[in-house]
Amino acid sequence: MSITSLREGQGSPARSKITILTIQEKKQRQAPITCLTAYDYATARLVDEAGIDMILVGDTLSQVVLGYESTLPVTMEEMLHHTRAVRRAVKTALVIADLPFGSYQGEAKEGVANAVPFVKEAGAEAVKLEGGDRRVDLVRRILDAEVPVMGHIGLTPQSLHKMGGYKVQGKDLTGIERLVKDAVALDRAGVFSIVLEGVPREVAAMITREVAAPTIGIGAGPECDGQVLVFHDIVNLTFAPPAKFVRSYGDAAALIRNAVSQFKADVESGGYPSDAESYHLPKETRADLEAILRRKTMKAYSR
Ligand code: KIV
Repeated sequence: MSITSLREGQGSPARSKITILTIQEKKQRQAPITCLTAYDYATARLVDEAGIDMILVGDTLSQVVLGYESTLPVTMEEMLHHTRAVRRAVKTALVIADLPFGSYQGEAKEGVANAVPFVKEAGAEAVKLEGGDRRVDLVRRILDAEVPVMGHIGLTPQSLHKMGGYKVQGKDLTGIERLVKDAVALDRAGVFSIVLEGVPREVAAMITREVAAPTIGIGAGPECDGQVLVFHDIVNLTFAPPAKFVRSYGDAAALIRNAVSQFKADVESGGYPSDAESYHLPKETRADLEAILRRKTMKAYSR
């Protein structure tokens, strides 16, 4: 391993920047694609340094960071703000930003105008939007504006009320036909990848074989070209019973609770901060200060 192949100050070889071409090429050579959400500098940095291919600034920001019940309330400003923070952290992964509910469901012109700032101002390299066949015109227009698009079909949380709840999609023949049609329409429109959420494994496998764009599954089984999960879900920071497809990889809640309780106990017992955790005066200033204090005490006694 040559010195130039090492990133400054780190022991691991530098990785090449991931682009949409890397993602498409991974499908061709059947290499699994990894994707996680991130919404802030610290977690985005850790996810990037772990070598994840794509970081999605998902509109799940609304729930897992901002505490709303669904993804519907999150605004353009909030999504842009968090995308900027993620951008500052990420060196290698492809950064994708979710278009929030209401920012692209109206006029296509407005959808394009809302997609562009994610790249121009916030530094994302692609945007994601929900919906299939009915978004084809919008997808083409966003691509014409030079912004790569990731599609998202199946259980699309922004359609919560239209779906009548968070329900697995494509469970009957009509549903399967609709999903395949949506996937093919997005593929033909030129999306660089398609998220398949809450879809039976068999249907996701069929779509994955059918389309050129890599499929990224979440609750869609192992045959997808890649997998995405919500970062907070895999480290137990979501405060809700996990969905069937979530696998837990750590307990950040326990770690944080423990650290906070220990801090509280240390402050309350006088155990924090210690002398070693305190700043000290330089020797000469300390001597000068002590001399002044001594003179003051002597004056007080002589009165
Ligand atoms: O917003 C999000 O986190 C997502 C993923 C669940 C794919 O859209």
